[in-house]
Amino acid sequence: MTAERTVPILGAPGMPTVLHVAGARPNFMKVAPLHRALQRWKAIRQVLVHTGQHYDARMSDIFFDDLGLPEPDMHLGVGSGSHAEQTARIMLSLEPVLVSQRPDLVSVVGDVNGTLAAALVAAKLGCRVAHVEAGLRSNDPRMPEELNRILVDRVSDLLFTPSADADANLLAEGTSPAHIHRVGNVMIDTLLAAKAEALRRPVLRQLGLEPDGFALCTLHRPSNVEVPATLADILQALAAVAERLPVVFPAHPRTRAALDRLGQAPGPGIRVLEPLGYLDFLGLTARARLVLTDSGGLQEETTVLGVPCLTLRENTERPVTVTEGTNTVVGVDPQRIVVEAEAILATGGKRGRIPELWDGHAAERAAAVLAAELGVP
Ligand code: UD1
Repeated sequence: MTAERTVPILGAPGMPTVLHVAGARPNFMKVAPLHRALQRWKAIRQVLVHTGQHYDARMSDIFFDDLGLPEPDMHLGVGSGSHAEQTARIMLSLEPVLVSQRPDLVSVVGDVNGTLAAALVAAKLGCRVAHVEAGLRSNDPRMPEELNRILVDRVSDLLFTPSADADANLLAEGTSPAHIHRVGNVMIDTLLAAKAEALRRPVLRQLGLEPDGFALCTLHRPSNVEVPATLADILQALAAVAERLPVVFPAHPRTRAALDRLGQAPGPGIRVLEPLGYLDFLGLTARARLVLTDSGGLQEETTVLGVPCLTLRENTERPVTVTEGTNTVVGVDPQRIVVEAEAILATGGKRGRIPELWDGHAAERAAAVLAAELGVP
């Protein structure tokens, strides 16, 4: 598969070039603020490559519109597949792009397969790699993202971390402190910039919901949705929560397919929706009474919004959301989920505080480090 140019690349040849790689839903919220912050340095050329891991309009295009991200300069169009297929296809498609574009630095974000593929290709071509959201560890090697995180960090030159635990993880693995830059959480830059607009969206009215009058659920981890007994357990817990207040459940395509295979109606009070765009989803999250999720990003977003979050996993790579924020890791036992949800409904749940450097300026700090690394004043 060859890379297809979709729009002409701006900037003059010979300028220091940062090439950003993104491709799955949670990447876009992380690339957007860094791309914007780097625009301050007119002498830096930026190239945005979309891997195509996510391709449905509701999984990709809508995020570009909501976030004001420019059209990708190139689209690799890799689509879905096994982990090996997806990672390999991105590597094969990206290598000639890097050879022709000759970036001075490749910036990768998060922990999806494209993050790993791009970091490996860049490092093997001798190109510097910056990893945004470095150092997070669930210490669960069964989680594909955990392997991606460890490997990406290992080959990255600049490690932009969101929190002190991430620094500690990297140091414990032998990373030199010179490579670690704690800049804060770039995804929270996006949240804080978009919050006012998200709160103006009519999404609650459209769904007939009252502020603080509903629970919000998202699920997409294969460990939860691809195991029928686990998915059935979670649905049982959601049905119990739905006896108290409506449960709104925008479903990832993987989850929608798993629900169809399970062949079990989700139960009254559970409203399964199509995936939502960034602004509508943020508008819903900000006004939810409680969130139940297996997402990583949503644990962080609820912490900043002060909304109680129950994480339906056995662990988290974002412990600061538990120790400082509104998150509680509850696993997937339906009784435990219901007990914790009832406690939130009775007490209002954890209030938490916003972690240090999750202040809306993380990408500016990262951009300043990148510019210095490229020798651009
Ligand atoms: C990927 C990331 C995960 C991230 C998640 C956010 C990896 C290993 N996983 O998981 O870390 O939290 O994105 O959503 O990179 N599909 C569509 N349309 C799309 C995209 C996917 O229908 O636009 C369906 C396909 O059937 C596909 C399945 O969803 O096989 C899973 O997509 P995939 O990108 O492989 O993994 P995610 O579960 O989205």
